[in-house]
This record gives sequence, C-alpha cells and structure tokens, in this order.
Amino acid sequence: MLTDFHCHVLPFIDDGAKDVDTSIAMLNMLLSQRVLRVIATPHFYAHKFDSVNDFIVKRQASYDAIKPLSPYKDNCFYLAAEVAIEHGISSLVDIDKLVISRTNLILLELPYSGFENWMLDEINNIAIKYNLKVIIAHVHRYLDLYSDSDMQKILDNNFIFQINIEAFKNPKHRKFVKTLIKEDYPLIFGSDAHNISDRKPNFLLLKKKVKPIVIESSNATMDHHFIRQFLF
Ligand SMILES: [Fe+2]
Repeated sequence: MLTDFHCHVLPFIDDGAKDVDTSIAMLNMLLSQRVLRVIATPHFYAHKFDSVNDFIVKRQASYDAIKPLSPYKDNCFYLAAEVAIEHGISSLVDIDKLVISRTNLILLELPYSGFENWMLDEINNIAIKYNLKVIIAHVHRYLDLYSDSDMQKILDNNFIFQINIEAFKNPKHRKFVKTLIKEDYPLIFGSDAHNISDRKPNFLLLKKKVKPIVIESSNATMDHHFIRQFLF
C-alpha cells in the first residue's frame, strides 16, 4: 500500500496546509498519485506548545475539521508528528504519545545547526525509554550541514531513515540516497508536502526514480511496526 510517511496536510497547526480546502486538495492529489496510506506529521516544537497534550488536542481539532471531506478513511490515515530534537526532549512528559498512531514508530527531526553528540543521546534516550523505533526525518538534508563523519555517526544507529522525494531533484542528495539504497539501509519515503504549489505531493517522481521493490519495502515498514493491540 503506497504510503506517504511525511506530510503536513493538517490545517491550522504548522506551516503546512493553510486551510481546509488546501488540505483536501493535497489529499486528493496524493490519492491521484495512488498513495493509499497517509501519515500526517505536523511539526512538534516543544517550545511552541504548552505540553504534548496541548499539541495532541490541537492536532485532533485540525483532523476533525478535514475528516468529513477527506478521501481517506480513518484506517488509511494516521496521526503523527515531526518531533524536533531539542535539549531535554527525551524527558518531556508524554513524548512517547507522538508516535505514528497505532505503531511504535516516531519521526524525529534533527536540528539544522551543526551536529553535536547530545542530539544522538536525546534520540537514543527516547528509543530506549519508550521502546520505540526511531525514524530520522529527511536524513539527506543534513548532508549540507553535517560533516561526513557526523553523517556516518547517525547512519550507524539502528534507525529508519526517511527520504523526501524532492531529494531526487538534487544531484548530491540523489547520489547519497542511491548509496543508502545500494547499501541496504532501512528507508522510507515521504512527500513532506506543505501545499499544492511549490511543496506539493510528488509520488510520480518517486516512481520514476526508485525501483518498485524499494518502494514496497518502504510501504511495508508500517505493517512491521503495528502494535499488536491494534491488529485485532
Ligand atoms: Fe516536514
């Protein structure tokens, strides 16, 4: 089932869809590209919300606003978050509630400053404390910010690495992603769509650039990480 692991389709919660019409247009665009499962990943910045619960309440209100018009039924639409790594984030109350719903997967975004070891400490603390599988959002973006050895430090962890489809438009990022595919790193794909103009869903490009078996492996990641209680 073709899956978008990273998109900002929910309205009113971050810099993604600006209103309900945009959300629905984005979802219809995804459906027209044969995407059958959507993971909604609004930005979670700890300092922008009163608490994780505050974010969850706002995210639910956002989803409730589009639900009656959405072409995706509940069982094909998953609420999640793109959690920004900050100092102390692993100790934030209820951080584990920001998983992709019904799974033990959590999407984490590294800072856009230079790499520092505390970032990996925070990530691994989240994984160990809550027994979660970490996904590093758009890992290729950090090529422009982190040294090769720091990139390798990140890749050496037992994480899943999420790739934005736009990576295939950038020669350096494309080469990096092709190397990850060749070396069999666990990869998943997402549009990271924010709108229907300059950052729109682009799964047709993915299908042009990547073999079906690689896309299937990405899709299957969801199936491998469902929490048992949600299977029956
Ligand atoms: Fe994003």
